[in-house]
Amino acid sequence: MTAVKQMSNFDVNKIREDFPVLTQTVNGKPLVYLDNAASSQVSNLVIERGSKYLAEEHSNVHRGVHYLSQLATNEYEKARENVRKFINAKESKECIFVRGCTEGINLVANSYGRKFINEGDEIIISAMEHHSNIVPWQMIAEERGAKIRVIPINENGELVLDEYENLLNERTKIVAVAHVSNSLGTVNPIKEMIATAHKFGVPVCIDGAQAVPHLRVDVQDLDADFYAFSGHKMFAPTGSGVIYGKKEWLDKMPPYQGGGSMIRVVTFEKTTYAGLPEKFEAGTPAIASQIGLGAAIDYLNSIDLDAAFAYEHELLEYATEKLSNIEGVKIIGTAKEKASVLSFTIENVHPHDIGTILDQQGIAVRAGHHCAQPVMKFFDVPATARASFAFYNTKEEVDKLAEAVQKVIEVFA
Ligand code: ALA
Repeated sequence: MTAVKQMSNFDVNKIREDFPVLTQTVNGKPLVYLDNAASSQVSNLVIERGSKYLAEEHSNVHRGVHYLSQLATNEYEKARENVRKFINAKESKECIFVRGCTEGINLVANSYGRKFINEGDEIIISAMEHHSNIVPWQMIAEERGAKIRVIPINENGELVLDEYENLLNERTKIVAVAHVSNSLGTVNPIKEMIATAHKFGVPVCIDGAQAVPHLRVDVQDLDADFYAFSGHKMFAPTGSGVIYGKKEWLDKMPPYQGGGSMIRVVTFEKTTYAGLPEKFEAGTPAIASQIGLGAAIDYLNSIDLDAAFAYEHELLEYATEKLSNIEGVKIIGTAKEKASVLSFTIENVHPHDIGTILDQQGIAVRAGHHCAQPVMKFFDVPATARASFAFYNTKEEVDKLAEAVQKVIEVFA
């Protein structure tokens, strides 16, 4: 890898002023927050929007004729329209609000699965999936008598695409794959993979949780059938998230959960269902969180997002180079195309110990299997330490990470 001499012309210090959490000290050291793949931080805009909603606008949505209910409904639907524009969905009703990416994938697995997957059918996933893009498919496969087929990965943590093509056949009913791997950082060529699946008439469900905060996503350009992501990894509160689905699929799919709001007429004999998106939003939703997601998108639209993404990518390259040069450190996940995530191990040191010593230096990373146990098994490691970057991180923070890693090595020498 060539040396990164100069970071992009992006004013990170100005951006950092928007994220109050970053100014605190942890264990007597300035916080270095490198756990963005688990959950990112929120800007003042999102905090202020949430507080205004709670102080002045809170009410239930889609249920009241009174002023506050209509106000909350308008704001909630504005957030949906923000999402639509951000991912370039054709219609806002194709953007179903869910608690997060996991719930979005479960919705597709259960709803699409019960309607379209039958005994002997096949579901293709990949060897680098997060558990949330494995287990829901296993559950529905077991229920419907279907089979899971797995696209393998190579030593760099890239999908073996020839094998993918070989797995597709007339029994395949859906492909479910990550846009960006949470444990390796690999960016998968999903546009090409979707086009390949479509040649077989097979829809594709993308786990976009680690992609939306780090690269531009255009669901129409990708031609994705379903695309799931979480708000809390894209600078919004927890409890917000989206499953995008093409209208032609969502119209054919049964509701995932029953309850208030998702019905047209209920009698004891039979219930008829509401249209999109209500059909998939039973019960009172996470109104404040989804309005927060709308505000997070407002924030992203207010900065030079392309410059932010380019800057963050340079930071990843800088960190990769720094850590690769430390003897005893092994990078897990060396794909050509990567985003945000830098997983690593240190010879003879358990990743949990790495995480604890880094925390003493005020540095937050995740240590563990990252809900991707098959990935750990493939690389024959019990766990990794994972630094994951956002556009508010700095080169100085990467230097501190490298110094702290060096310290871990000294402590365990
Ligand atoms: N899926 C989140 C992660 O990768 C929690 O850390």
